[in-house]
Amino acid sequence: MAVFQVAIDGPAGSGKSTISKIIAHRLGMTHIDTGAMYRAVTLLAIENKIDLNDEASYRFLESAKISYHKDHIYIDDRLVEADIRGKLVTENVSLVSSFPYVRKKLVEIQKEVAQKGEIIMDGRDIGTVVMPNANLKIFLVADVLERAKRRQQEKIKKGHDVHLDKLVEEIMIRDQKDSTRKESPLRKAEDAIVIDTTALSIEQTVEKIIELIKKAKGEIK
Ligand code: CDP
Ligand code: CDP
Repeated sequence: MAVFQVAIDGPAGSGKSTISKIIAHRLGMTHIDTGAMYRAVTLLAIENKIDLNDEASYRFLESAKISYHKDHIYIDDRLVEADIRGKLVTENVSLVSSFPYVRKKLVEIQKEVAQKGEIIMDGRDIGTVVMPNANLKIFLVADVLERAKRRQQEKIKKGHDVHLDKLVEEIMIRDQKDSTRKESPLRKAEDAIVIDTTALSIEQTVEKIIELIKKAKGEIK
């Protein structure tokens, strides 16, 4: 089967998973949200009450099956879509994903699915590590205040009210941890195209990327 790969990276709240999901549906591609996979490992680590700071205690990954299938994340056969978005998971996911052992395990799975058909994968190290030869690499960015406002809207929709300042702080801490870690930090691949979504709607961003995909496929000049 021909492989066509699109890598979408960028900081928290830049729109990666929302936009990748829509593009995948419109173009019949497979979407993989790798952030959801790191969140699932974090959820499992918390539930197993392991020492989150000890890399050796993540050996439970030898027998756990983390998979992302049709926009849903599973641990073995359990759907954990809602559980992985909790506060405790969000606060600890950057720590968990900083361990080389955890990254190695998840990158193995991601590289394998990346070989199957037309794929759009989003995360932090997709263009640099998981799919370094992707046909198209996008690096989405947006002002931190705009990203925090987007998160606030999500929380309001779910009936929670959270202060904007708190969200700005939480996003900045996570971005800082993700960009400064030793193992595959959040970084723009040299050949990635930067799209600033601060003033763009979801639809405008989707259209821009679909045009770039069509160009990469040679469908338009
Ligand atoms: O909250 P948001 O949707 O922005 O984050 P996410 O995409 O769900 O990713 C959660 C966390 O997983 C990130 O903050 C990173 O620490 C980690 N991650 C990673 O290290 N590498 C990836 N390819 C994807 C996510
Ligand atoms: O995956 P990532 O953390 O990069 O972002 P996301 O979870 O896809 O998007 C965060 C929120 O921003 C979602 O509620 C999107 O609907 C919203 N969003 C937006 O309002 N405008 C955009 N251009 C992109 C995303």
